[in-house]
Amino acid sequence: MEQRGNPPLVEMKNVAKAFGGIHALHKVDFQLAPGEVVGLVGDNGAGKSTLIKILSGVYTPDEGSLYINGKEIHFEGPRHAKELGIETVHQDRGLVPGFRVADNLFLGREQTRFGLLRLRKMDSMAQQALAGLGIEIRSFREPVMSMSGGQQQAVAVARAVSANPKVVILDEPTAALAVKEVAKVLDLIGQLKKHGVAVVFVSHVLPEILAVTDRIVVLRRGQKVGDLPTRDADQDLIVKLMIGSEVIGCEI
Ligand SMILES: Nc1ncnc2c1ncn2[C@@H]1O[C@H](COP(=O)(O)OP(=O)(O)OP(=O)(O)O)[C@@H](O)[C@H]1O
Ligand SMILES: [Mg+2]
Repeated sequence: MEQRGNPPLVEMKNVAKAFGGIHALHKVDFQLAPGEVVGLVGDNGAGKSTLIKILSGVYTPDEGSLYINGKEIHFEGPRHAKELGIETVHQDRGLVPGFRVADNLFLGREQTRFGLLRLRKMDSMAQQALAGLGIEIRSFREPVMSMSGGQQQAVAVARAVSANPKVVILDEPTAALAVKEVAKVLDLIGQLKKHGVAVVFVSHVLPEILAVTDRIVVLRRGQKVGDLPTRDADQDLIVKLMIGSEVIGCEI
């Protein structure tokens, strides 16, 4: 939450985005403080991924503005958002299927020496990054397309975290994961928070949201209909906000 004299790390004001006649997002405000974990929930098509794509520089909003540390920013694209410390694991993961784990991890920031790729160095750094997250991958030198959905998701998460970001956005990071892997991602969110990294966590699994977030933002048909501390929420209330007609903690 905003403190006096201390602007939010990230702030969206009055953001709207339409695709043809569909208002994917309609006048949405969104804030994020350092070390804050915000759960973003809503039914299918509510606008979660659209909001995240705006926060990560993939889409330009039709209306509204975006601020980082109080300064208005117009993202020129996803790379610009990354340069400003916003790393995103999109719902479709965004890995290059034919590339190996390390190549995917260091995509766009490859380790080179005398203009040559340092493959061994990248492999060992990748292995360390994954081990640090408690992620085991056997087919390390295989292209990621030969891995399970869950393993690919783990690589995508590791890639985001290894960039040393200020904000990590995870769009349904646990959807394809096995139970053990889900626990690791949830644990990782806690670690990021401890290091002052802000996290936006999208999930349809409400117990996960209730377990790891500080605040929950609810979207319904492109509008923000809920913005409340997690301690004030329970599953029934969140479901009511998602599919009912209630509104809490915001104006529509
Ligand atoms: N690129 C696009 N072109 C056209 N329509 C789009 C596009 N992206 C999103 N939409 C539409 O905007 C609305 C919001 O979609 P969005 O992907 O943001 O929802 P979501 O909350 O992430 O849903 P889900 O839980 O299924 O991932 C939907 O009606 C969707 O069909
Ligand atoms: Mg989505």
